[in-house]
Amino acid sequence: MSDGTVATPIFAAAYAKINLTLAVLGRRDDGYHRLASVMQTISLCDTLRIAVGGADRFDCDVAALAQPDNLVVRAASLLRAEVARPDLAAEIELHKEVPAQGGLGGGSSDAATALVTLNARWRLGLSLARLEALAARLGSDTPYLIHGGTARIEGRGEIVEPLPDAEPLWLALVKPLVDVSTPAVFGALTPADYGDAADTEAVIAAIRAENPLPFERLTNTLERGVLRAYPEVADIKKSLLDLGAPLVVMSGSGPSLFAPFRSLREAASLVERARGRHLNVWLCHSVTRAQVQAARE
Ligand code: C5P
Repeated sequence: MSDGTVATPIFAAAYAKINLTLAVLGRRDDGYHRLASVMQTISLCDTLRIAVGGADRFDCDVAALAQPDNLVVRAASLLRAEVARPDLAAEIELHKEVPAQGGLGGGSSDAATALVTLNARWRLGLSLARLEALAARLGSDTPYLIHGGTARIEGRGEIVEPLPDAEPLWLALVKPLVDVSTPAVFGALTPADYGDAADTEAVIAAIRAENPLPFERLTNTLERGVLRAYPEVADIKKSLLDLGAPLVVMSGSGPSLFAPFRSLREAASLVERARGRHLNVWLCHSVTRAQVQAARE
């Protein structure tokens, strides 16, 4: 609304993601790396409260993120510039649940949710393709998070192919209390670390065939370097395996680790035992593309 009227505010969920697979295939001339990945949105989410019209205002319950350079504010500015409508205003509050810098796409999902919701609430009518192009300017994960659900990711992250929803899974998710720098994790890779897309293709084949996910193919090229550089992350992975997790994989550039389960009882039992060891752990689950999109209406 550009007449100063404040529309009824809405809440929109910004779901986190995990990488079911992440293969780094090589380094590009622009310094970014070529990826092959299967991403999946999960139930852990941030919440945006958006009221269009009125004053232009942004606030966040994590003080360090309540800044004009927040990706949510930048998403709103990009949209305004794209349609040459500097008059468009929105009051946005952001409640963080997804740990920042965790390899879970939290900030990217906040930005993607702001793009999709503001496009609708400001009645701009931009296509998903145009929103994706804007999203690519905010980060490598953001175009995928415009869609959510299960998807194949290629390029530096900007090539997104939505896939049928993968097998629904319970997840025990742990965010180790160390800060890991994404550029440093990618920067530490050598050609010997580069992998191929075989695990990614095997997982996609299972998804297309509506088969259970082959847990042994859930792998992440970036994991080895992070476990080496941050022994506390390696210790947490070992603890989770000792406590009975069938598999523990790092998400994105880390340091978050996830363990997938088909049974709530098994997931909850691991989560309880991990909390007993004072680990920062959530019990969550995969979320479909339809759920992601419905949570932004
Ligand atoms: O694009 P985004 O801001 O998410 O990326 C953060 C950093 O991660 C980049 O500056 C780059 O160092 C590294 N990166 C990469 N290759 C990718 C994605 C990210 O090297 N495909």
